[in-house]
Amino acid sequence: MIKLTNLTKVYGKLTAVNSINLEVSSGEVFGFLGPNGAGKTTTIRMMAGLLQPTDGKVFIGGFDVQAEPLKAKAITGFIPDRPYLYDKLTATEFMHFTARLYDLKAPKERIAGLLDLFGLNDWAAELVENFSHGMKQRLVMASALLHEPKVLVVDEPMVGLDPRGARLVKDIFKDLASKGVTVFMSTHTLEIVEQMCSRVAIINQGRIIADGSVDDLARMARMPDSHLEPIFLKLTGGDEADGTLRRERS
Ligand SMILES: Nc1ncnc2c1ncn2[C@@H]1O[C@H](COP(=O)(O)OP(=O)(O)OP(=O)(O)O)[C@@H](O)[C@H]1O
Ligand SMILES: [Mg+2]
Repeated sequence: MIKLTNLTKVYGKLTAVNSINLEVSSGEVFGFLGPNGAGKTTTIRMMAGLLQPTDGKVFIGGFDVQAEPLKAKAITGFIPDRPYLYDKLTATEFMHFTARLYDLKAPKERIAGLLDLFGLNDWAAELVENFSHGMKQRLVMASALLHEPKVLVVDEPMVGLDPRGARLVKDIFKDLASKGVTVFMSTHTLEIVEQMCSRVAIINQGRIIADGSVDDLARMARMPDSHLEPIFLKLTGGDEADGTLRRERS
């Protein structure tokens, strides 16, 4: 469903994303981890078609995002790390506005259903300018699901959500995956990765240094039965000569 081939982004002298290759299947919840500045948001913006790669390709549902952006975007739900909303629209108005962007017919019931799902019923007629950060985050998520995307690309979904909101989002993502949606999310919340993600990749200084299940990563780090946090710290600690570790298959 998602395929990245030699994906690269260069800013001047900095190679922010360095020839990464990843494939994520339908129904997977994929965790994209890495230290601050590792290249996660840059990768995700290229996946969403917002940033032109320097080299390499992104395929979403078989569509080359560069060559066929509308086809790719029609099946992608993108939730950015810093959501952009319009202060002077109400939640319902913003949902209708988004529905029109996607050319959805008769979206009224779906909008009401999604506002309900994300606990925004009581706020439906309220202006976005009066929303807290977490409420804005919920509204952006609801709007990203309007067109029933096959692929959901999310940059740090849990930031600013209260425990109930985080729980809700976990349940929704798992439910979507069980229905065949591909969920690709970056996060620093390793506990959530342990609970949700069937597969994980770690990016460090623009390169994928590990890719597999949490158990695979534990084997790579030679830390069986360990939690993800110490594994992550070891793998991103650069204690190998070139700062990378290769996947070991047992
Ligand atoms: N427009 C830009 N121009 C120049 N450098 C950039 C630009 N955008 C990102 N970078 C650099 O690219 C690198 C990767 O940034 P990116 O935002 O992808 O990291 P990240 O993994 O999302 O980090 P974080 O966990 O802090 O969100 C950083 O060194 C950043 O400074
Ligand atoms: Mg980021």
